[in-house]
Amino acid sequence: MKAAIYPGSFDPVTFGHLDIIKRASSIFDELTVSVLNNTHKTSLFSVEERVKILEEATKDMPNVKVDSFSGLLIDYARKKNVHVAIRGLRAITDFEYELQIAQTNSKLSGGELDTMFLTTRLEYAYLSSSGVKEIAEFHGDISQCVPDFVAKLMYERYGHA
Ligand code: PNS
Repeated sequence: MKAAIYPGSFDPVTFGHLDIIKRASSIFDELTVSVLNNTHKTSLFSVEERVKILEEATKDMPNVKVDSFSGLLIDYARKKNVHVAIRGLRAITDFEYELQIAQTNSKLSGGELDTMFLTTRLEYAYLSSSGVKEIAEFHGDISQCVPDFVAKLMYERYGHA
């Protein structure tokens, strides 16, 4: 069985992430979308909330599982016996950062963990979770960025409900 992990912060999941999830899930037999529990980063939604949001957003994709992890990705991947990490690339500005993470993971894992990049579809290339948060904070229109139920949760969180 071909399995992959799509790790990330997903704070919150955007249409850009969902497009990557859909496409990766058609390449692999099983895709685990895994939320990093990052104690160094303040987030809008807790890890548990982000997992629930992702579960709801991917409920129509039967081979997609949602999970969370702490610590190193290579340790998590090894425990799950998965050898491929998926990451989305929006632009050349993402590339340097992503290349460094991919090479670090390859080195740290002794070549056990490979990273596969999917390029973001052009219509979502401008999207980022942090940009969406900024728009939502000022009650801007995020209907093109995240599913409606996520937009509702974000507005609630920012006190616009
Ligand atoms: O959505 P993000 O915040 O860009 O995702 C970054 C992520 C989660 C892929 C990356 O920070 C990660 O894998 N962190 C886990 C810690 C780790 O393994 N670090 C070593 C590689 S630099």
